Amino acid sequence: MSNEIFARCSALVTRCLVYEEMAERKKERIVAPITIEGEEDLRFELSLRPTTFEEFVGQEGVKGNLRIFVEAARQRKEALDHVLLCGPPGLGKTTLAYLLARALQVDIRATSGPVIERPGDLAAILTNLKARDILFIDEIHRLGRVVEEILYPAMEDYQLDLLIGQGPSARTLKIDLPRFTLVGATTRTGLLTSPLRDRFGVFCRLEYYRVEDLRRILDRSARILGVALEPEGAEEIARRSRGTPRVANRLLRRVRDYAQVKADGVITWEVSRAGLELLEVDERGFDAMDRKYLRTLIEKFDGGPAGIDALAAAVSEERDTLEEVYEPFLLQEGFLDRSPRGRLATRQAYAYFGLKKPGQEGLFGGQESQG
Ligand SMILES: Nc1ncnc2c1ncn2[C@@H]1O[C@H](COP(=O)(O)OP(=O)(O)O)[C@@H](O)[C@H]1O
Ligand SMILES: [Mg+2]
Repeated sequence: MSNEIFARCSALVTRCLVYEEMAERKKERIVAPITIEGEEDLRFELSLRPTTFEEFVGQEGVKGNLRIFVEAARQRKEALDHVLLCGPPGLGKTTLAYLLARALQVDIRATSGPVIERPGDLAAILTNLKARDILFIDEIHRLGRVVEEILYPAMEDYQLDLLIGQGPSARTLKIDLPRFTLVGATTRTGLLTSPLRDRFGVFCRLEYYRVEDLRRILDRSARILGVALEPEGAEEIARRSRGTPRVANRLLRRVRDYAQVKADGVITWEVSRAGLELLEVDERGFDAMDRKYLRTLIEKFDGGPAGIDALAAAVSEERDTLEEVYEPFLLQEGFLDRSPRGRLATRQAYAYFGLKKPGQEGLFGGQESQG
């Protein structure tokens, strides 16, 4: 008899747990991200942001790994290992952070490196986390040194070492933290200190997207936005999006406006070409700044080597923007080379302007490709 009662009780307990779990899953989980972008752009982006692995196009390697880690963490009911996402802007780092939280069914708190000014700011965020929650720190390479040091024991031992008071009476207070997951995003892995880098268990490097992937992203976005996008139109926009979903979506939006005013709203191949031309985005996906950069390097610096600061001054653009946004794509496409002595325009860069690269025999021990 007591066996039967026991069985009933445990069935009841199981049911309670199931209900609890369901209630948990229903809760609104995602807090608003802190960004510095324009509100309209942000709203537009948010409406197109994939929320599941299935919707997240491309990056198969990264996705495959993350899926396994998520599944393992869920099965063990443990926090996911700390994840570092790196790659140029607009490739899906923030999207992945939110997607991870959703897949893990945990809450996410989002902040960014430059926003956390004092150790106390970070301490406040950390102590408010629940077990398995995700703390997303965007632009983690821009975290201040003192703040960063608070993060080491927090990541490693889930402990917060706070310094209370000043001078001889100062003492440290140790606070235990819940087992959380830090997801860091950076456009510049090179600027991350090694103690911080070493504390991440999972590294994901996002690559520029292939044209087919961008086409799929554009098809999806067009569906969501209710835009008539013909396959040839999608192909044309995809090819000129510098391998970047954010750029693809923005171009789609602009071309849509063009189609609405100049054509009957349908984005055909001709409409996309005309629209992109008006935006000064060329066949390579280069915009006015890419061209200015390359032209300056060739004309003012004789093709280099040129220092980044001199170049930045010459094109009136911030050094950081050049290094984070423009150069990675030019490098990947083979228009730019980097050497210890500075930036170099490649043969392709000259050819792009219909120029021939002057011979540079001997300058780099014969290793530099010849024009
Ligand atoms: N893999 C993807 N599939 C579909 N859309 C994507 C993908 N990656 C990024 N996007 C789109 O690009 C936009 C920018 O991505 P985001 O995650 O903000 O980039 P990052 O944080 O790396 O700068 C998102 O709003 C989303 O619409
Ligand atoms: Mg981001």
